[in-house]
This record gives sequence, structure tokens and C-alpha cells, in this order.
Amino acid sequence: MGITKERKKTILLPIQQADLELSKLRFAAEILQKGGLVVFPTETVYGLGANALDEKAAENIFLAKGRPADNPLIVHIADFADLGQVVADLPPIAQALAEKFWPGPLTLILKKKESIPDAVTAGLPSVAVRMPDHPIARTLIKLSGLPIAAPSANLSGKVSPTSAEHVIEDLWGRVDVIIDGGRTGVGLESTVVDLTVWPPQLLRPGGVSLEELRQVVPELELDRALLDKNKQEKDMVPRSPGLKYTHYSPRAKVVLVRRGEKQKEKILELLESYQKAGKKVGILCREEWKSYFSKADFLLELTKGSDLQQAAYNLFNHLRRFDQVKMDVIIVEGVAEEGIGLAVMNRLTKAAQEIV
Ligand code: TXA
Ligand code: MG
Repeated sequence: MGITKERKKTILLPIQQADLELSKLRFAAEILQKGGLVVFPTETVYGLGANALDEKAAENIFLAKGRPADNPLIVHIADFADLGQVVADLPPIAQALAEKFWPGPLTLILKKKESIPDAVTAGLPSVAVRMPDHPIARTLIKLSGLPIAAPSANLSGKVSPTSAEHVIEDLWGRVDVIIDGGRTGVGLESTVVDLTVWPPQLLRPGGVSLEELRQVVPELELDRALLDKNKQEKDMVPRSPGLKYTHYSPRAKVVLVRRGEKQKEKILELLESYQKAGKKVGILCREEWKSYFSKADFLLELTKGSDLQQAAYNLFNHLRRFDQVKMDVIIVEGVAEEGIGLAVMNRLTKAAQEIV
């Protein structure tokens, strides 16, 4: 599918507290009811929302983002009672996961209800559903009275937005409303779990960790597409359609230096050789290492010590920042693949053109 050329008049709605600014949210909810496009913050990243029951509205999401039509959308709900509108059945395992992790950064793939149009699910018999944990998102969905289809609110192939400024960069003139609710808390997208197969498969690591999920579903497996890029079989078809596309790419070349012996020294070596080649080099690393890379053209902090939540919070925001200051190369310190670190490394591996 192409990308829309038609320019829309976009309205920016700053909202600090959902419950005190209901009239603004009512206005946005009406736009959704009329088939319009509304960008809203969730606890993970900003979402580009439309009525999930309206085929035309869902198609407009794809046009606004330039998203390939075969990459399905996540449907967002505000209450457990709304699940019945979206999924055909709710296996006990889905019930258990939803009870434990909703509202929150977990997306479940389940058998879809007939009323969900093909545009939303890219023709699949399954649907992705989640209940976000953000007062603006929940209130907006509730006021609209609809299930809301919403992918991340970036142009296809770009880094997901964690602030309204990022959304404005990508989607101004392409959507009806952008709600500015400040920076998002988690900083990267929800975990996606496929419950239409046995054993259940983790398709995308995210805000809820594999370790936490396995406490409820010990059988949960990592989808094969998540294995190390180098270990992947060349002709393998990933089960989550979105995973086959390039993702999370800033303009600059991303070089990921994995954890291991001499990680710090390797980063310095790369920094010097790229600079020698005339490149502007940005470094993204832990606070404690910053003084070691003082030659860098731009330095941003990924973490303090080994706080992986903070790495997730900073990652997308900082990748966009390096583009704003026009770095040619971004060298990133790889983190431990545990907890939310698995999601951080997954996004970095996809963004990286070179992995050391
Ligand atoms: O945190 C999030 O999940 C954000 C916020 C806005 O909720 N949304 C988000 O949506 O990241 P999106 O469209 O950028 O990513 C959705 C992922 C894609 O990889 C897509 O292929 C997968 O979910 N997906 C959606 N429906 C699916 C289905 N029926 N079967 C398998 N994968 C599916
Ligand atoms: Mg996305």
C-alpha cells in the first residue's frame, strides 16, 4: 500500500491530566467515531488510532504511515467487557495472562471475531489485542465506545515515537488529531504473545518480560524469528508479519557492540576508526563510561549502571536525538538480554547495520 499525499489539517491537543480535560478527550473520541485518525499516548509508545470496526478508517491508518497492508494492527480496549467485541473465544490461558498483566504492555494474539475487518488483521484469522495502561488512552477508548486499532504512530520503518514531538516529525498533516501527553513511560512497544498455537509463542519481546510471562505460562517459547540474526535460517518466514520488515532505523548507521570482554575498548576503536574516515560519531552508553569516550561528536546516556528499564525508556528517544544532531554513525553499548533487556537488544539488533 502507498502513502497518502493528501494533507490534512492536524489539531494538536496537549493533555496533562485525562480526568481534568475530558472535553478535549470527548472531542478526540468524536473524531474516532466519525472514522478519523487520532494519535494518543500509551504507556509503551504513541499509537495511531482509528475505529477497529470500520474498514475504511483502518485502511487510512496504513495510508498515513505508509505501512504495508500485510502487517496487521493491534486492537486496543479499555475494559475486559470489550474483549467480546474483538475475539471469538478466550482460552483459560488468555484469561490468566490478561488478569495478571492488563492493563499493561502485553498484546495477545487470539482467534478474531468476524466483525473485525480484514484490513485490521491483514486477512489473518487471528487478532492482536491489548488493554493499555495509560489514563489518556483508556479514557479516550472508553469515551469513543469502540475498540481502537492502533499501530505505533511513526512512519513505517522509523523508530516508534515516545513523545508528541516525534509524532509531529513523522505524521503532521497526515492525521486529524495528535494528543500530546508527554513522554511515554516504558519507551518501547508491548510484548506480543501468540496464543493461537501450542506451545504459545513470544513473537515480540517488549514491556512485559519473558521471565514474568513464564511465571504464568511456563511453556511459553521464543519464536524462531527472535533467534540471533546470524543464527536465523535464511528462508524462514516469521510468524508475526511485522517482523519481516526493517524496523527502528534512524537515518544514521547504527553499530551495536555486544556485551563481552573488551566491550569498552571495542567501542573506542570503532569510534576512532569512523572518525578517521571523516564520520560524525555519536555514542550511546552507560553513564559511567561517558568520560572514556570524550572524543565522540555527541554522547548520550543509555543507562546508569545496569538499569535496563532506563535503557528501554531512553532508547528510541535517543536514537531520534542522534538524527536531529546529524550524526553519521551511532555506536551503541549492548546490554544484558534479561528482563526488558531482551526487548532493548531485539530493537537494537534490528536497527543495527553492523553488530560486533
Ligand atoms: O506497544 C505497542 O504494542 C504499540 C502501542 C501503540 O500499543 N503498538 C504497536 O503496534 O507497536 P505495531 O503495529 O507497531 O506492532 C504490532 C505488531 C506487529 O509486529 C504485527 O505484525 C504484530 O504486532 N501483529 C498484529 N496482529 C498480529 C496477528 N494477528 N498475528 C501475528 N502478529 C500480529
Ligand atoms: Mg510499529
